Amino acid sequence: MIVLTYNTDNSTKTDIYCSVDYNIFKNIVNDRNYVIITDEKVYNLYSENLVKSNCIIIKEGEEHKNLSNIEYVIRQFIAKDLDRNSIIIGFGGGLVCDIAGFAASIYMRGTPVGFVATTLLAQIDAAVGGKNGVNFGSYKNYIGNITQPQFIINDALFLKTLSDKDYLSGIGEVLKYCLISNSNLIEYFTSNFNSVTMRDKDVMDFLVKECIKIKTEIVSRDTNDKGLRHILNFGHSFGHCFEIVDGLAHGIAVTKGMCTAIDLSVKFGYADARLRDRVYELIKSAGFETEYKLDTRHFDLLQKDKKKSGNYIDFVFLSEIGNPIIGKTAIGDIIKAVVE
Ligand SMILES: NC(=O)c1ccc[n+]([C@@H]2O[C@H](COP(=O)([O-])OP(=O)(O)OC[C@H]3O[C@@H](n4cnc5c(N)ncnc54)[C@H](O)[C@@H]3O)[C@@H](O)[C@H]2O)c1
Repeated sequence: MIVLTYNTDNSTKTDIYCSVDYNIFKNIVNDRNYVIITDEKVYNLYSENLVKSNCIIIKEGEEHKNLSNIEYVIRQFIAKDLDRNSIIIGFGGGLVCDIAGFAASIYMRGTPVGFVATTLLAQIDAAVGGKNGVNFGSYKNYIGNITQPQFIINDALFLKTLSDKDYLSGIGEVLKYCLISNSNLIEYFTSNFNSVTMRDKDVMDFLVKECIKIKTEIVSRDTNDKGLRHILNFGHSFGHCFEIVDGLAHGIAVTKGMCTAIDLSVKFGYADARLRDRVYELIKSAGFETEYKLDTRHFDLLQKDKKKSGNYIDFVFLSEIGNPIIGKTAIGDIIKAVVE
């Protein structure tokens, strides 16, 4: 069942489904030649549903999100005789979606792609909105583009096999949506927290759908990330630094980034201490540490953030729950403020 369709300001359309069903897959693929890109862990867990000869299995782990893996995948496309009428399917977490999305977007100047998202983080974020790409050395997502998938298939059943760390990482991004949106998501999340921790299918399918609604609403108004879409980056400027320097899972790094961002919101006069306490309380009660340490390694990476222009960065502050503010700020002033 299609639960949501989003259009973009580039006139593309993406259908989002909320349950894995062989018939959906059959209808989408139709007579087309297809490949499934997945990682070793997901393949081992779900191989009984996959035809091995149609699979390209990549290594898991952020260190493999690089151009050599793209080259490997493209060689496989050629070996499997894919053409522009074929369809490429990313079956996995955010890493698989980013690699599949990017490889598909450049293969023969663009081949259709869709995702079966198997982590919470991919279902609510990485699979949605068309951003793809790989890291370049220690620079996060430096190579890539924005190309929308034709479809996304989510199912909370996949979340049952996730490790606690990877599940928590997805919850980190759920918290971001709770904080940047003025929907009632924060109330739903806190009042259903026990079911969330139990990975209850109904609650999680609903939560995923609500997060996607928030993201797609923003993406359809600013598909190419020229302004409004930056608010989805709340917690990410420092989050990416924590991810690389401290080796944290993406969503866990983002929660530390959100702690940094709310502290800076107070220091720059966008928010008061009451809001900071509320944000810290939410993050802590969801099972995250709120302490963070920053040093020159983080600051060096911040200077290379993709949202910078010259010595300035479009930093996302928060002035109220549901009211993120994009403030063009000198990177030097940000660094000065966090070390004070
Ligand atoms: N393109 C975007 O808009 C966007 C947004 C957010 C994050 N990202 C990227 O997504 C990546 C992080 O995504 P992620 O957290 O999904 O990480 P991931 O894809 O690396 O998956 C984390 C781990 O979970 C395993 N896994 C996946 N599905 C599973 C399942 N159902 N059961 C058990 N294990 C499973 C994977 O094998 C891996 O070991 C980062 O590279 C980040 O930059 C992209």
